[in-house]
This record gives sequence, structure tokens and C-alpha cells, in this order.
Amino acid sequence: MLKIAVCVSGGGTNLQAIIDGVENRTIENTEIIAVISNNQNAYALERAKQAGITGICISPKEFASRNDFNDAFLAKMEELNPDLIVLAGFLVTIPETMIDKFENRIINIHPSLIPSFCGVGYYGLKVHEGALERGVKITGATVHFVDKGTDTGPIILQKPVAVMQGDTPKELQKRVMEEAEWIILPQAINMIAAGKVTVENNQVIMK
Ligand code: GRF
Repeated sequence: MLKIAVCVSGGGTNLQAIIDGVENRTIENTEIIAVISNNQNAYALERAKQAGITGICISPKEFASRNDFNDAFLAKMEELNPDLIVLAGFLVTIPETMIDKFENRIINIHPSLIPSFCGVGYYGLKVHEGALERGVKITGATVHFVDKGTDTGPIILQKPVAVMQGDTPKELQKRVMEEAEWIILPQAINMIAAGKVTVENNQVIMK
């Protein structure tokens, strides 16, 4: 049984896709042991509550320094001891100590086809604004392992999504979520739970 902890900051639609996937068995052999948010008002925490999943709020704002937060965040994660940490719209930088401790056991969903429209400053609607500004005809989403860079870890899955003439950032965001994010994040978790995903020389190998 793959024990996963899901980190969220906002509406939690990707979390909901994971909850639903476990429920309808498109994600097998997996248990969500906790949902962690830096934002006590995140609707994602309500989604966890409705699903009977432990919700935890821990925010840098509660601590005297970022180092104090990082230590507390890592201590909580070590206490939970998940097999996999899933970042589903989590807007807090993951401490390097946590990346070391959970090497290749942290995954993130990013709403573009990395290496396009990613890195520092590319989050939420800004990703889709960048894609529309550049005039790309295809965008999409990426699930990748988290390393010490920003959106730079080994890529696990990607799924393309067409950009439609006249799309607004919000309309494109919704399509990328519906047609890509909510599909490949559960898929990636299911493959990891089945032991089908390994990393060799910083490349993901699918068995
Ligand atoms: C998603 O677009 C995800 O790709 C990005 O943040 C957003 C989170 O949305 N990392 P939600 O909270 O899962 O609805």
C-alpha cells in the first residue's frame, strides 16, 4: 500500500482527482494518509474533511523564521512518514532537507509542458498567460519528481492540450486541468504505487 501525503494551497481540484481515483480504483494500492496546507482557508482542506482524510495546516506565517518553519514542516512529514509526497498546487518552497530525506519521493503537477512556461514566477494563471502571450498552439501539463530546482526534476508524465483561438487564461487553465492535470496526476500515482517508475541518471524509466 502506497501511503501518500498531498500538499495543497488552494481549491484542491487535483486533490479531488486523487481522492476520486482512489475511490473508483483508477488509483490502486494507495492510501491518502494526510492533506497538508499552508492556507487554513484552502478549500482543499474542506475536500479532505468531506473525504474523511486528516487535514493539517502548517504555514511559514506561524513561525519566527523560514528555518523554523522548514524544521517543523520536515518534522511533521517525518512523523507522517509517507512513501510519496504529492504537491498539488502547493505554493510553499519545499525545504532542501525534505528533498534530501525524500529523494525521488516527491512529485509535482505543473500546468505546462516543461521546459516551457515553468521555473521561478510561473505558477497558477501566470503559466497560461505566458503560453497565450507566446502564441503556442499546444500546451499541457507535466508530472515530475521534485529536485532542488524549480520545476526541474525528472519528468514522469506529460499530456498535451490544444490552445483555442481566443482563449482567456482562465479558459485555458480550466481546459488544461480537465484534459491533462486531473488525468496524469492520478496516472502517475497509480504507476508509482505499482512500482513501475524508477529514476536512472536523472531520467524516469517506466517498467
Ligand atoms: C493547478 O493548476 C496545478 O497545475 C498548479 O496549481 C493549480 C492547483 O489547482 N500547480 P488545484 O488547487 O488543484 O485546484
